[in-house]
Amino acid sequence: MKARKIRDGIHWMGAIDWNRRLFDSLIPLPDGTSYNAYLVTGSEATALIDTADPDMAGDLMTQLETVDRIDYVVANHAEQDHSGSIPQVLARYPEAKLVTTPKGKGMLIDLLMVPEDRIITVEDGETISLGDRTLRFVHTPWVHWPETMVTYLEEERILFSCDFFGSHIATSDLYVIDEARVYEAAKRYYGEIMMPFRKVIKKNLEKVRQLDIELIAPSHGPIYDRPAFIIEAYEDWVSDKPHNLVVIPYISMHGSTGAMVDHLVNALSERGVRVEIFDLAVTDIGKLAIALVDAATLIVGTPTVHVGPHPVVFYAANLANALRPKVRFATVIGSYGWSTKAVEQIVGLVPNLAVEVLDPVMVKGYPRDEDLEALDRLADTIAAKHKEIL
Ligand code: FEO
Repeated sequence: MKARKIRDGIHWMGAIDWNRRLFDSLIPLPDGTSYNAYLVTGSEATALIDTADPDMAGDLMTQLETVDRIDYVVANHAEQDHSGSIPQVLARYPEAKLVTTPKGKGMLIDLLMVPEDRIITVEDGETISLGDRTLRFVHTPWVHWPETMVTYLEEERILFSCDFFGSHIATSDLYVIDEARVYEAAKRYYGEIMMPFRKVIKKNLEKVRQLDIELIAPSHGPIYDRPAFIIEAYEDWVSDKPHNLVVIPYISMHGSTGAMVDHLVNALSERGVRVEIFDLAVTDIGKLAIALVDAATLIVGTPTVHVGPHPVVFYAANLANALRPKVRFATVIGSYGWSTKAVEQIVGLVPNLAVEVLDPVMVKGYPRDEDLEALDRLADTIAAKHKEIL
């Protein structure tokens, strides 16, 4: 992509990664992603805000061919998908200083071996003048690394938010056109990357809300020209209040656990509780992360394999524990052949979840009438619990 004009002297740069399908060798990217950098030209100085993944540094360096001078390279975040091209940019512009938080300085030296004398650090609220334009740096730690900050262009009221408010989506749209599509991509991004830091992100959200913002220009996905759209979405996601939703990740090897899940889905639906189920043998874990953003209750469905839960369920439980969703209730349902310790082992895997553990329903063999009645009682309990908290 060529550089794209946002305002006179303000341009989108970077790269659209249409074909990337995995991030951190872990996170599915069904819609690709982008690495957005922004060039801000003032009357006296020019700043490049963030760079691009090193695999796509060539795109950025080509866009910069017509830019004679850069005075400041702003590293809002030291992760390599934004910082990875900094060494090339600094080599091309020997006059440029790298601007980062005090915590970011050490990380950029460690990760990219940037010479210390090229770096200047900025405190929270500090500004740098570009002449007729002013960059204000707002520290937003733990979004999602400890060094993160955002950059606010005061005169144009543009917030360059890096990962904050970002969405993994490859699109030729400079601005958000399809809000529903971007909503899901941004929620996936929040669920997979930001949710473990929900409480600190809530504080950072309150902080950036104090700014008068006309555009939010993240470093993944399109620019928000209606900032309220993504700010209100984040307010819901970081709030302490879950939705009336049960999420059931499960595995069924021979149909018994699957029959229990089917029965419970119907029982919950009849009681007015929304349910999303995820067959872990085939599901996109990003979809599970999206559902966990809202869920009030997590129910893990597993057959018993060698006395414990199915290995894929271990993985999903470990992931849920790491993502720290705001679920309030959890339990386990499933089938076993002769004996099981699946419940104890799964509960032991989720110490980060501050949940009330509801009575599990573990069934020997295929579920009988009395087992289905136990699932009905579980649905009764969940419906009543949800009414209490929602
Ligand atoms: Fe998009 Fe945390 O890097």
